[in-house]
Amino acid sequence: MRHTRIVVTHYGGPDALQVVEEDCPEPKRGEVRVRMQAAGVSLPDIMAREGIHPETPRVPFTPGWDLVGMIDRLGDGASGIEPGQIVAAMPIHGPYAEFVCVPQRELVPMPPGLDSAEAVSLILNYITAYQMLHRSAKVRPGQRVLIHGASGGVGSALLQLGRLAGLEMYGTCSSRSVSAVSDLA
Ligand SMILES: NC(=O)c1ccc[n+]([C@@H]2O[C@H](COP(=O)([O-])OP(=O)(O)OC[C@H]3O[C@@H](n4cnc5c(N)ncnc54)[C@H](OP(=O)(O)O)[C@@H]3O)[C@@H](O)[C@H]2O)c1
Repeated sequence: MRHTRIVVTHYGGPDALQVVEEDCPEPKRGEVRVRMQAAGVSLPDIMAREGIHPETPRVPFTPGWDLVGMIDRLGDGASGIEPGQIVAAMPIHGPYAEFVCVPQRELVPMPPGLDSAEAVSLILNYITAYQMLHRSAKVRPGQRVLIHGASGGVGSALLQLGRLAGLEMYGTCSSRSVSAVSDLA
């Protein structure tokens, strides 16, 4: 079976992205092959394409920090999950493809009834924001926080999670984004 994926051939602008057609990857031991439903598009994807993110893979690589997809095939040793199940994962690279193989231990089953494109937007940005608030800063209701880049992917996640945590929030952003940030703060 063939599939297509996007490959960053050299670090640079959008011209570094090429579509290639090739044989579908086969899952190795402990891996699961996932048929992509939605891949996240984030600033770190762009930074990796440009070669300036601290976790930039070596070229050539397939971008995509996070994914939601359907389990397609189990590798040897993978068990307790079934083809057809919807899962989420954050493999850091690989999801700009029709199929990707991911270690089973990195998969999280998705609750039924969610829109895949909406759900994938939660993975990188909201995990980052949640950890900043609750594992690093250990915020408490009523505390005041200042969020730089408040209109961005991580910033808007911080604003939404910060509201749930009962925080008093202040944010910085460009003038075009002030009303969106004010609505969330
Ligand atoms: N450690 C992690 O796990 C992790 C995960 C995700 C992201 N990150 C990092 O978090 C940062 C934000 O990522 P993101 O995905 O939220 O990016 P994003 O969606 O592109 O948002 C960028 C934000 O920065 C603001 N900004 C851009 N240029 C600016 C400037 N010159 N001065 C002041 N503000 C400026 C933008 O404001 P306007 O749009 O209003 O101009 C926007 O609010 C990046 O450095 C990214 O690498 C880290």
